[in-house]
Amino acid sequence: MSISPSWKKLIATQLQINFDKLGPPAAYVSLATVRPDNTPANRTVVFRGFAGEDHKEATGWESDLLVMTCDKRSPKMSQITSNSAAEICWYFHGTQEQFRISGKLHIVADGDPASIKPLDEHVCRVSSPDSEKISWPNLAFRNALKQFGQDSFSWQAERLRQWYRMSPELRATFTWPTSKERGEGEDWKKDVPETLNIEGVDEETGWCKGDPKLEDGYKNFVLLIMEATKIDHVLLQSGDHRVYRL
Ligand SMILES: Cc1cc2nc3c(=O)[nH]c(=O)nc-3n(C[C@H](O)[C@H](O)[C@H](O)COP(=O)(O)O)c2cc1C
Repeated sequence: MSISPSWKKLIATQLQINFDKLGPPAAYVSLATVRPDNTPANRTVVFRGFAGEDHKEATGWESDLLVMTCDKRSPKMSQITSNSAAEICWYFHGTQEQFRISGKLHIVADGDPASIKPLDEHVCRVSSPDSEKISWPNLAFRNALKQFGQDSFSWQAERLRQWYRMSPELRATFTWPTSKERGEGEDWKKDVPETLNIEGVDEETGWCKGDPKLEDGYKNFVLLIMEATKIDHVLLQSGDHRVYRL
């Protein structure tokens, strides 16, 4: 299996073009799952990149797995647990093209093992130049990999890296009560943080130093990993249509 298949290169290139034109909304995708009663469930989520990769900085790893994040208390979790079939529909307005990516979702949550066997063949180590300046997400990832055993990819190290990449505002929402727990009115807002800042990286574990509430939020922070089995690409202007079956 190629870790850098043509469909992945195409998505990465078209995302960059659209990001330059439209900014962050270029990374908004519709993610459809299946409810236990077999009805479809669909919502917008942010595409966070290919697992292990950072488009600005070499990490030493590559994969063909798409990463999204969510709160483990959200309804989609039970849907994915009972049926892992899912489809991403991604419209790139800047280039007028659509990708439909079908496949299987894998959940990486707190307490899961560092290795998730069916996914391991989708990730490979690549050479990465030693850089003097390393970002905190990648420093945390490197430290966590050492802790989990640096010869293999660790999904818990990847989860930590993605946690660092969240904005302080988004990180804080993982400590908030769910909409069901909030009750009437806005009173719940008095007791919750608006931001969760990271102030440093633990040298041994990679864990983030800072607000003690970081630990509470992290427990609810989950990765959704899409293992693609089919990519359907259509260009609206020319009508060109191509299907990649994996
Ligand atoms: C622009 C936008 C981006 C969003 N990004 C995410 C995301 O990355 N992850 C997520 O779980 N929910 C995200 N949401 C919220 C979801 O669309 C959805 O409301 C929430 O996850 C609950 O979905 P569920 O009931 O299907 O679990 C986003 C919503 C919008 C409008």
